[in-house]
Amino acid sequence: MTVRLGERSYPVYVAPGLISGVGSLIAERLPSASGCAVVTSENIWGLHGGALANSLEAAGFKADIVLVPDGEEAKSWGETARLIGELLDRGFDRRSTLIAFGGGAVGDLAGFAAAIYLRGIDLVQVPTTLLAQVDSAIGGKAAVNHPMGKNLIGAFKQPGLVVSDPELLASLPGRELRSGLSEVVKYGVIADPELFRKVEEKGDALQDAEPGALTEVVRRCATIKAGYVEQDERDLEGIRAALNYGHTLGHAVETLSAPWMRHGEAVAIGMGFAGRVSVGLGLMKEGELERQRDLLASLGLETGIPDLKLVEILDAIKRDKKVEGGSVRFVLPTGIGTAPVIRPIDETLIVRELGREGVG
Ligand SMILES: NC(=O)c1ccc[n+]([C@@H]2O[C@H](COP(=O)([O-])OP(=O)(O)OC[C@H]3O[C@@H](n4cnc5c(N)ncnc54)[C@H](O)[C@@H]3O)[C@@H](O)[C@H]2O)c1
Ligand SMILES: [Zn+2]
Repeated sequence: MTVRLGERSYPVYVAPGLISGVGSLIAERLPSASGCAVVTSENIWGLHGGALANSLEAAGFKADIVLVPDGEEAKSWGETARLIGELLDRGFDRRSTLIAFGGGAVGDLAGFAAAIYLRGIDLVQVPTTLLAQVDSAIGGKAAVNHPMGKNLIGAFKQPGLVVSDPELLASLPGRELRSGLSEVVKYGVIADPELFRKVEEKGDALQDAEPGALTEVVRRCATIKAGYVEQDERDLEGIRAALNYGHTLGHAVETLSAPWMRHGEAVAIGMGFAGRVSVGLGLMKEGELERQRDLLASLGLETGIPDLKLVEILDAIKRDKKVEGGSVRFVLPTGIGTAPVIRPIDETLIVRELGREGVG
């Protein structure tokens, strides 16, 4: 599949076993690539590095590895500087390619570094988590965190190529897999009733990381994401914003519950909340909200709000980038697989709805 963005267009490949083809795909797609730096963490490299190294070597590239901390710890200004120092030390030039080999955390750090290193070098995303394959590896958003909040320092950096191998997900801890499935449910609710049904039907196979079931889902989600990105690359038209379904409250809960809550777990809580607001406003039927709740529950994802203080939640929501001109914008579902509406929501309504769930 191709993400069509004029001269920044790029292909997204999704197939089981494709890790062995990464080297030849780079040689084909980025023929002027002179050297490849693989940005990854020790954990990921230990699990799947051998396969990637073989594939790069077979295509004539030397696998030069730069290890970064695992998970969210990689996403800092300090790690960005350290990574850039490594690249300079090892003599990577403007024709070098950065390969992001990991989950969303590695992808975001490597994407940001590729955007600013020597004013920008080529980037290849080889996502290894479900969340990264269905979401973060596509679309060009790359950011690291600031002590004041998540993703506050970043750039748009479209990759030149995305290669997803769902077989890599077999080693993913169940919790990480479920976190990715939460984003899959998100795509189903905002854009694709058929995908939603598929997840209802194949929930067990997906949770067992069955490559056939995962491949189908990753392809579908990648196509949906590409569609939004093509229409609104820089997230300025209010189209790409639909992808933030569940993320307004989700980000707040995620920040307040760090480090023990996964991104997708927080998004599930956020989708539950946005769904309840929608039902309250008459935008979505109660039965559709129940279907969403049941599906998330069957995937091991809670939608109740954890034990947090109302003031903390409100503060965190307001600190998030989604607040514009003082009002909090929510993505409100209108059904299963129908386009959501995006509208500012009055603080009193948020307080009332949170209050009904026992948040005080
Ligand atoms: N840029 C975007 O558009 C975008 C979109 C969504 C999320 N994100 C960002 O993505 C990040 C979350 O990404 P994530 O959920 O992929 O988490 P992650 O990158 O933190 O990875 C989670 C854990 O899984 C491990 N792991 C990765 N691949 C594995 C594999 N194949 N087998 C076993 N373990 C593996 C990692 O080592 C890590 O410990 C957040 O920082 C979020 O802000 C970015
Ligand atoms: Zn998300």
